[in-house]
Amino acid sequence: MSAVIVIGTQWGDEGKGKIVDNLAEKADVVVRYQGGNNAGHTVVVDGKEFKLQLLPSGILYKDKTCVVGNGVVIDPAVMIKELRTMQSQGVETSDLKVSNRAHLIMPYHRLLDEVEEDYRGEHKIGTTKRGIGPCYMDKNARSGIRMVDLMDEEEFAAKLERNLEAKNHLLQAVYGAEGFDFEQLRAEYLGYAQVLRPFVADTSVYINEALKGGKKVLFEGAQATLLDLDHGTYPYVTSSHPIAGGACIGAGIGPTKISKVIGVVKAYTTRVGEGPFPTELNDATGDLIRNRGREFGTVTGRPRRCGWLDAAVVRYAAQVSGLDYLAVTRLDILDGLETLKICSGYKYKGQLIGEFPASLKVLSEVEPVYEELPGWTESITGVRAYADLPANARRYIERLSEIVGVPLGIVSVGPARDQTIVLH
Ligand code: GTP
Repeated sequence: MSAVIVIGTQWGDEGKGKIVDNLAEKADVVVRYQGGNNAGHTVVVDGKEFKLQLLPSGILYKDKTCVVGNGVVIDPAVMIKELRTMQSQGVETSDLKVSNRAHLIMPYHRLLDEVEEDYRGEHKIGTTKRGIGPCYMDKNARSGIRMVDLMDEEEFAAKLERNLEAKNHLLQAVYGAEGFDFEQLRAEYLGYAQVLRPFVADTSVYINEALKGGKKVLFEGAQATLLDLDHGTYPYVTSSHPIAGGACIGAGIGPTKISKVIGVVKAYTTRVGEGPFPTELNDATGDLIRNRGREFGTVTGRPRRCGWLDAAVVRYAAQVSGLDYLAVTRLDILDGLETLKICSGYKYKGQLIGEFPASLKVLSEVEPVYEELPGWTESITGVRAYADLPANARRYIERLSEIVGVPLGIVSVGPARDQTIVLH
């Protein structure tokens, strides 16, 4: 491995944190390249649970450099809080690099996220209201404030002033909300600048140099393929690019540098928030999966919608990210289910459709084509070798791999580091 990207293949919460943590052991550098503090990885180390929102999962290893790339949007208050929480849990945080090109989430982004989502009424996107979408909007509108600006007192004040004029007008005139005070925000953010200054760097230079020097770099995707701004189930998507290509943009490396792309697949499907979900189970099986899998958001606590494994979704992820391997997680949650179903494709108006629909109207009307497979009765949480998995468990994931056309690389049978079977 020299440059490996790990992405989510479904709607997020696949357990990427655990897979990244596993792969990070062999890496020298771990990079986050998109999203913000809307991610929420949970990693269990020696029975201790660590919740990460903004920092790369590699932070839990002593000898790794962690990078927050230019594609990430940073709420400095959250980053500082997370750093302090990690420090209080005994985690070494000094080897962190934060891109000088990363955009800053400002308090007006958080407020706009809230009032705009409320304004959408029935058409809510289901945002986490952390200011991520509005921050990316400013980035695209070319009015955003970047880390490099925060490092320069004058530049920051000038950009803040210009932004506040527009944002206060929008908040007050359109949404009837209160605006923000310039002096207060300036002082608050300059305080953050003091704390973050030692970490700020040109991370593209750093990563490219690391690769040239033969270091192993792991790129950690947050969210997932179907939440990608371009390739996801738009508009129920995030504002960034979680697919493999997003790593090049969000970290500043060329596609020729990538050696491998690994897609994390949860052994069933979940989705948070609105939007079509062809294999959703609104029945006792759905409730069983939700309760056994504790399928409630790590950041928001929202119950996740649960359904059968949709291999059509994973095949689409393989298409847009060029997956080399699948890492199947949470297979243990399906222990004891008598029969399992895998969706191998969709029918629309009675006809099998080959491609993943762009239209949400079509996606909401498709009929999943299911294959039924027998389940297994025993617990697999203690299994450490692929051959020791029950034959039906192997059959289930091998069928997934066949439908998707991508080999299996990792199988996870529990949250702990050692509950991992590595095939490649
Ligand atoms: P997002 O970036 O928000 O998509 O997060 P994520 O993909 O890292 O998923 P998240 O951490 O929200 O949820 C994964 C949960 O599943 C965590 O609590 C993990 O400890 C746990 N987990 C990961 N792999 C397994 C597994 O194989 N079995 C079980 N039972 N739990 C697992």
